[in-house]
Amino acid sequence: MITDESIQLVKDTMRVEDIVGDYVNLRRRGQNMLGLCPFHGEKTPSFNVNPSRNIYKCFGCGEAGDAIKFLMTLEQMTYPDAIRKIAAKYNIKLEEKEVSQEVREERQEKESLILVNEFAQQWFEDQLYNTDEGKSIGLSYFKSRGFRREVMEKFGLGFAPATRNGLYTAATSAGYKEQQLQQLGLVRNKKDFFWDRVMFTIHNLSGKPIAFAGRILKKEVKAPKYVNSPESEIYYKSEVLYGLYQARRMVRQKDNVYMVEGYTDVISLHQNGIENVVATSGTSLTAGQARLVKRQTENVTLLYDGDKAGIKAALRGVDVLLIEGLNVRVVILPDGEDPDSYMQQVGSTAFEEYLTKKRRDFLFFKADLLLEEAGDDVAARSDAIRSSIATLALVEDPLKRAGYLQQFTGRLGLEESLLINLVNQAVADRRAEARREQERETRRREREAGRGATAKLPPVRPSKKAPPPPEEDRWAGMEEPGFQDTPPPPTTVPQETSYTPSWEGMEEDGWAGMQEPEFSNEGDVDIPPPFLEGKVPELPSLDPVAEALQNRGHAYQERELVKVLIVHGAKLFDADNNVTVAAFITQNIRDVLDDFDSKKDLELVNRVADYLAQHGTPPTPDWFLKHPEENVRKTAMDATMTAYSMSPKWKEKNVYLRQKEPEENQVLITRQFLHNFRMKKLVRKQKICLDRIEHFSKTGDDQKVRQLMGVLQKVSEVIKNMATISGTVVIKK
Ligand code: GTP
Ligand code: MN
Repeated sequence: MITDESIQLVKDTMRVEDIVGDYVNLRRRGQNMLGLCPFHGEKTPSFNVNPSRNIYKCFGCGEAGDAIKFLMTLEQMTYPDAIRKIAAKYNIKLEEKEVSQEVREERQEKESLILVNEFAQQWFEDQLYNTDEGKSIGLSYFKSRGFRREVMEKFGLGFAPATRNGLYTAATSAGYKEQQLQQLGLVRNKKDFFWDRVMFTIHNLSGKPIAFAGRILKKEVKAPKYVNSPESEIYYKSEVLYGLYQARRMVRQKDNVYMVEGYTDVISLHQNGIENVVATSGTSLTAGQARLVKRQTENVTLLYDGDKAGIKAALRGVDVLLIEGLNVRVVILPDGEDPDSYMQQVGSTAFEEYLTKKRRDFLFFKADLLLEEAGDDVAARSDAIRSSIATLALVEDPLKRAGYLQQFTGRLGLEESLLINLVNQAVADRRAEARREQERETRRREREAGRGATAKLPPVRPSKKAPPPPEEDRWAGMEEPGFQDTPPPPTTVPQETSYTPSWEGMEEDGWAGMQEPEFSNEGDVDIPPPFLEGKVPELPSLDPVAEALQNRGHAYQERELVKVLIVHGAKLFDADNNVTVAAFITQNIRDVLDDFDSKKDLELVNRVADYLAQHGTPPTPDWFLKHPEENVRKTAMDATMTAYSMSPKWKEKNVYLRQKEPEENQVLITRQFLHNFRMKKLVRKQKICLDRIEHFSKTGDDQKVRQLMGVLQKVSEVIKNMATISGTVVIKK
């Protein structure tokens, strides 16, 4: 550890303009110095350096700090590394003080592993540029791909010859430990792991080699196209993005990173002037990688091949980016092209033009793609919509989400209020799932901790330091075709901790009394005329906004009611008496029809009633779906999409998880639904009566008060009856 005195000496010596000046062309401007900000792309300078205060500040993007902060931010250095770098610049000899044995050993171990890799990289490069085999096979291959020397050096490309012990012999005779060569996956049983392949170096953010990938050149050989170093103490696959070290400065400047699949794509784009590019290496993105990106930019553009596999890949693994709050865009290349080939084909100008023209927001891209694939298939459309909504729900930022919501309405052909409900539900589901996941994790840890004093807790970030598989395993099947990356560690969540919903109490809760008939299925609920006729006089509106809100209050339930009519209406509610769901519902809501908030939905209910009266049977879902009026068709579409999601609350109670066959539950669903619907309407009516009684007592209009009292009494009676039947208690005010 660097001593405090040394750090102070560095701080006293360092001049911000010296450090910044290594990266930015600074010009005097009075007291200050001015240049183009290295943290964001700009054409007119707004990056200020103040030598007298020894600080910098960009008035464009807000970045500010001292020389140390500058290096830490721009170079992604740790604090001690920044101090070391500045010390070296001023020839300051740093005093280091003792750190704990353990820390020192770990650090030394890591440093020495990196030294081994540095040796290996040099060796691979030496093979590539300075041996006959390397030149004739490796170098000519890279050249045939159009790679220039400087970019090859920048990315540490190399060559592993077909001898199977070249690196082993060179490294051990240079004094590197066999055990470390093994740990890094460079050597196994005194033989080289990488042989007869061109080599790609994988760097960490400080530009140190932490792993390698080797691509085979022979086509006929039955070996994997790429082999990679296994994970090690210096290489956690899930925390690395290929090319980020070389890309990071441009990523910041352009405030965007392109993500491609292949190593060669990165190099090809980089060489052609698109330097803000990294590779996912053909695997799903991890949260660690998403966070890595987030430290550089919030904007990710996925750049994928124009074939089926490419498009699938674009859909996969994006969740993790959205969850981390990144803005994700997609560009799909023309069919059959990958970024490298397309760049070679059209050149950088046309390529960049293509990128700006074709890039699309990921959420819209996904929704459109799924809907297009679904075509007219109602079930597939429903899945597509659900899936799009689930993705939208990953966007945590409420403002961003609202922006998407607005545009989704038209795209998915759903009403905004419905969409909001569905998205909120999906967000709630996701949060609940995350909570459960956390609880599972806690329980698992507790159990492990309880397993005896010596039991070790799993590391805080298990993904980072997943226990390396036993040496034998790691190499098993290495010669087989297929991806050679270490498989993800098996989920350690034991079976018994996995979540199973408990049904206990649910029986009581949502379904109490449900077996009892609350409604006569022969006709109207007997409510006397004053109520039905709705003669309650209008009140002058005091607050138009509040009133509007209140009037919108039941739109969701009304829409759901209409949906039930569309989806289930033609089914039998009471088989014995040949009563359909539609007949049952329309008869039992006559008394609340006046209280509909949504004219559109009221109209649909009336249409169903008319149809029933004319034909004696209710309309089928098809009748709605093929209705000449767009409006009706749209609603029907909605309805068939969200068939059994009666209301968010219902879902919480797992009501339709219990549904085996919709037919079996028709009666229950209809009863419960109608009950809730009527209750909502009646309770509101009751409240309105009370308000108006209060109003008219103040104005002294006794006749109206008496009339209202009559209505109130009727409404209250109905509520009370309903409540007793269903076992709910009405709270009186
Ligand atoms: P070229 O064929 O040389 O253009 O390489 P590429 O990097 O473009 O390869 P490709 O498009 O076939 O695959 C994309 C990425 O998936 C590669 O860069 C690798 O990271 C990964 N990949 C492909 N094949 C394998 C494999 O056999 N094993 C492993 N571990 N990764 C692979
Ligand atoms: Mn390729």
